[in-house]
Amino acid sequence: MLPYGRQNIDPTDVEAVVEALGSDWLTTGPRVTAFEADLERAAGAPCVAVTNGTTALHTAYAAAGVTTGDEVITTPMTFVATASSAALLGATVVFADVEEDTANLDPAAAEALVTSRTRVVAAVDYAGVPADYDRLRKVTESAEAYLLADAAHAIGSTYRGRPVGSIADLTTFSFFPTKNLTTGEGGAVASIRPELLERARTFKGVGMVKTPERMRRTDEGRWFYEVPEFGLNYRLPDVLCALGSSQLRRLAAFKARRQYLTARYDELLAGVPGLRLPAGRDDVDPMRHLYPVRIQDGRRREVYDRMHAAGIGVQVNYIPVYWHPVFEDLGYRRGMCPVAEAFYAEELSLPLFVDLSDDDQDRVVEVLRRILES
Ligand SMILES: Cc1ncc(COP(=O)(O)O)c(C=O)c1O
Repeated sequence: MLPYGRQNIDPTDVEAVVEALGSDWLTTGPRVTAFEADLERAAGAPCVAVTNGTTALHTAYAAAGVTTGDEVITTPMTFVATASSAALLGATVVFADVEEDTANLDPAAAEALVTSRTRVVAAVDYAGVPADYDRLRKVTESAEAYLLADAAHAIGSTYRGRPVGSIADLTTFSFFPTKNLTTGEGGAVASIRPELLERARTFKGVGMVKTPERMRRTDEGRWFYEVPEFGLNYRLPDVLCALGSSQLRRLAAFKARRQYLTARYDELLAGVPGLRLPAGRDDVDPMRHLYPVRIQDGRRREVYDRMHAAGIGVQVNYIPVYWHPVFEDLGYRRGMCPVAEAFYAEELSLPLFVDLSDDDQDRVVEVLRRILES
């Protein structure tokens, strides 16, 4: 089965991991610091490495102080973790609808849902295309809320010339194997605000602090540390950070290949009946994680099944988050975000990954065209 996404691992990655395994530090060592510094160069802001994109979100919301009684406005066109990690901290998740073409959080819809309880507006760079951050920033400024970017899809993308990671107050990344780069499992929080990054770092380190200025008592001895706030162990080990640093060296090459394949899909699929191709924006330079087409005329399920039967592992991204029983049980109902639901009804992600060969891509196009023309 041709997957919709897949990692690219080369001998330099293997070498980096083996070297880390033979070193003194399997975790909490120098490769973590090095990976965070490497990430900062890509993200344009200081970063804290964590265990995955879900824990990155949990950490970022915790750093923003999200707690019971707060509201977090976000998009339903995302992986459930964007919303569930805020709900776990006690927040009420408020779903705002998406833009019709990009499926990114619609700033006007978000603005309409702001209340005095809004603590965070969380956008998602769906498929790797950055959200409309300048307009979202106006919303968070007037709401006195934090702007969070779930950039699980978008490391390597830029918005108005600025790297994703350097725009929102808090940005989260995922390094799952299908993503733009991988550490197996892994993620990171980036922040342009030192105080938020410090809180994120403390939260992912079980809440432990050792710097005298943050401690209540300092005269116990050099072993002493304190826990001023609860945290969890979300530390990414050196072994995986070594893989991350190695992968980051190829980020530009990964981007070039994904952009080449995207342009090729655009060209090969232009004019195919019953098909709508993904939208971009003039002011963004995306590193696409997904190539999400829209299958019209109510044929998405049939096309999904027939593509799978032909050995092509297309995917649907995403089931509107509030459709999940955990949100339904909290009173959320279908129909709440009609633009997102219309998008979901037609969406199909075609295979897109660095090692997708031109021949395999031709086969995807050929099978899809044949199905749609039949
Ligand atoms: C938009 C989005 N947010 C968060 C996540 C969570 O990342 P992870 O799978 O690394 O926990 C994902 C990954 O699927 C995602 O696509």
